Amino acid sequence: MSNRHDRGVISRYRSYLPVSDATPVVSLNEGSTPLIYSAKLSSLVGREAEVYVKYEGLNPTGSFKDRGMTMAISKAVERGAKAVICASTGNTSAAAAAYAARANIACVVLLPAGKIAAGKLLQAFIYGAKVVAIEGNFDEALRLVRELGADGRFEIVNSINPFRIEGQKTASFEIIDELDEAPDLHILPVGNAGNITAYWKGYREYREIGKAGTLPKMLGFQAAGSAPIFWGHVVEKPETIATAIRIGNPASWEGATTAIKESGGGIDVVTDEEILQAQRWLAAEEGIFVEPASAASVAGLMKYVSQSEEATPLLKNLPLAAKIVLTVTGNGLKDPEAPTVHGFKALEAAADIQSVARVLGVN
Ligand code: F0G
Repeated sequence: MSNRHDRGVISRYRSYLPVSDATPVVSLNEGSTPLIYSAKLSSLVGREAEVYVKYEGLNPTGSFKDRGMTMAISKAVERGAKAVICASTGNTSAAAAAYAARANIACVVLLPAGKIAAGKLLQAFIYGAKVVAIEGNFDEALRLVRELGADGRFEIVNSINPFRIEGQKTASFEIIDELDEAPDLHILPVGNAGNITAYWKGYREYREIGKAGTLPKMLGFQAAGSAPIFWGHVVEKPETIATAIRIGNPASWEGATTAIKESGGGIDVVTDEEILQAQRWLAAEEGIFVEPASAASVAGLMKYVSQSEEATPLLKNLPLAAKIVLTVTGNGLKDPEAPTVHGFKALEAAADIQSVARVLGVN
């Protein structure tokens, strides 16, 4: 049992991670996020399926990136790094800035100008990162980061840093630890493709040591306007309302295709409209508020259950009592533009009981 100063994913899964006594653990008690059973999604799938939502928005900086960042920053400090750098669509930069702050090292983040959700931008600033807005997209920012990191002045903490993948694989461990077996199907949004790569690594490793008897099929969803893996070619000008996955040339492309092929899974797309609808549905029906990119996994499942069985052999071929896990990757509060996007508007009333009763229709 870990002590109260030591509760993050490195402490919980130390023996499965490349750390040693020489690694100074930089943690914010990330991980151990809830795996929430969804009765409504289960009944949408039908048969005897059980659907669970892995709510990664409850990590310390509000996304799954904290799992990888505790590893990347701890190893950077171990190696004596004084500064880290990353390109980001917003969540990686939030996590990098927070963990760098905790480690007393500098952090530089390169972000596509005008395409970062306001909450994430605020995070980078408030945690003390040096923020550079690039007149270009994420793929261009990552290319610059690779160049800037080449001479060792900065430690790169994007998921091209293998320690990021190591940390993120702990989400699979948690799922198996909780279900006592691997799910039959795992659905998640795909952007730079580090996470699908990491989950697959985690599932495989846990099976190799006998913690699970089977492996899940891995099913990734990209936004329709940013779907290079689905189309099989780079998308020069990716677009989607889900800015977190607005990526046209994923760094872990190969990791994603390996996970999909080896697991017998798939990659597919959802439209912005389907994403927003799923975001709203998950909040209003299950009380789980996620950012648009995260809703891609829910949108994907909904798309599949609404299609004919022939169109979705992946679902059709699952066992009757299939266990399905959906990762929802980031917290909805990161993106405060949602009221405008969804067209929400409060009822308005004067501060007297008659007016309030009138707008509520209860007078
Ligand atoms: N969901 C959210 C909320 C994300 O922020 C990201 C990626 C993904 C899904 C996709 O994960 O890249 O491992 O396939 N965000 C990165 C960032 C690119 O910079 O924050 P992936």
